Amino acid sequence: MAATRNSNFDDSFYQTADAFFAANSKVGLTYDDITLATLYSDILPRNTQLDTQLADGLQLNIPAISADMDTVTESRMAIAMALNGGLGLIHYNMPERDQLSQVSRVKYHVQGLIQDPIKVLPDQLIGDVLELIEQKRFGFSTFPVVDSKGKLVGLLSGHVVKPRYATKKVIEALTPRKQVHTITKKELGKDPIARADKFFTEHLGIHKLLVVDDDDHLHGLITMSDVERITQERKAQFKPARDAQFRLICGAAVSATRNAFGELDKKRILEHVGGLVERGVDVVAVSTAHGHSKGVGDTVKVLRDAFPKLPIIAGNVTSAAGVEYLADCGANAIKVGQGPGSICTTRIVAGVGIPQMTALYVCSRAAAKKKVAILADGGITKSGDIVKALTLSSAVICGGMFAGCTEAPGEVMEIGGKIYKQYRGMGSLAAMKAGSAARYGHEKADATRKLAAEGIEALKESVGSIDRVLAQLIGGIQSGMGYLGAKNLAELRSKARYIRVSPAGQREAAPHDVVELKTGN
Ligand code: XMP
Repeated sequence: MAATRNSNFDDSFYQTADAFFAANSKVGLTYDDITLATLYSDILPRNTQLDTQLADGLQLNIPAISADMDTVTESRMAIAMALNGGLGLIHYNMPERDQLSQVSRVKYHVQGLIQDPIKVLPDQLIGDVLELIEQKRFGFSTFPVVDSKGKLVGLLSGHVVKPRYATKKVIEALTPRKQVHTITKKELGKDPIARADKFFTEHLGIHKLLVVDDDDHLHGLITMSDVERITQERKAQFKPARDAQFRLICGAAVSATRNAFGELDKKRILEHVGGLVERGVDVVAVSTAHGHSKGVGDTVKVLRDAFPKLPIIAGNVTSAAGVEYLADCGANAIKVGQGPGSICTTRIVAGVGIPQMTALYVCSRAAAKKKVAILADGGITKSGDIVKALTLSSAVICGGMFAGCTEAPGEVMEIGGKIYKQYRGMGSLAAMKAGSAARYGHEKADATRKLAAEGIEALKESVGSIDRVLAQLIGGIQSGMGYLGAKNLAELRSKARYIRVSPAGQREAAPHDVVELKTGN
């Protein structure tokens, strides 16, 4: 019978993480410096599981997070990430109230049963409703109408929410109660989506179903498009990442904000995060270039005290001491990466930072001791890098890989017939002037004086939808897991065996000695 485990002979070449990184402790290694050895496998790539837990109550169905950068993640990207099973971290280079509405947009996107739908009152003007839509940036315009006690009065259909009717009252424009289709909570039963699906099939042309109690108080809203989307999703291998109320999950970045005296502005941080929590944010990320610092630790402590159950990501660090410090302050997941990013110049400007695989190994051992997760942040350029990163971390954070996607907020430009999207480091001069200076330990006001940029402004070729990009990456991750015989990420971490790659080995790893006609994807 063929051997189904490593032979001792293999073990002396292809080493476990502990043996390999100890043997290479004098040199900083990154993704291309190493390769993973194949192992006996009875696992088909398509059967591998990619779910990952970042904190109590924060589980992703794929281990991918879009970076909190102003050319990568706003609500559109966060929605797409969550629909694919991952997480988007909304950046903080915008006024706090705008970040709150970005989070709302994600949390209100495509829900099965919208438990607390936005309602309007009979006396409001259509003009007020239009203003509300504009202010909160809602992507919908049909609203249930309730009286002051929450009893259903009718439905304000999107057809009449138009500027030409601005001076009319809602009561004049609504579809009256008796013509509105409703169902009671009890009738919805254990599988509201299946029940609603049946209802929409039986009621030709009806797209909204309101949920009421026996006294006709409004308790929810179900839309046909949500039901159809969810029915489709149930067939997909990787389900959208949702909270306990079936809303998409969403993260938001916050900074260690200081007041005019240079002290941590605890009041402002608490108000800001309080607002995010009210909007349903699932995790906040205290994002800075130097996480092993008093300001970041104090911010995490303040947040942990005020919001004991809120998952907190903090960073960035590259040392075991940094992980231990942030874990002790109360962080659940810690970003690892200083200078690996495609737009980063920290290592050039400051002479600081550690190649990513070595940093991940060192941090992973401290994280295991403290029972926190680590996130591999920056430097990912291909799916193989993700497989390597996941041998030591719980998820990856990508900026450059996603910045060329349609869902990213960067400006689009055409150069020589090709479409590009703007992608800039949060430590670039332009981004710091727009607000991210605190992340790099500068005052925003400094941005007009001397200030050392630690990032560049760049372009990424437009690559279409994030769905396509993620499908490619997931395929690659599953393929890597198949080669290692790992059916889930825990097995990938325990089974991984590493070896260093010579410069000739690196050349051998990419297409060579051919005229390339088509790229792999
Ligand atoms: P990738 O390689 O995915 O990296 O484009 C994204 C990560 O890079 C970090 N980041 C920066 N690091 N200067 C830096 O040194 C910068 O201006 C900068 N902007 C972003 C960040 O951790 C992000 O997730």
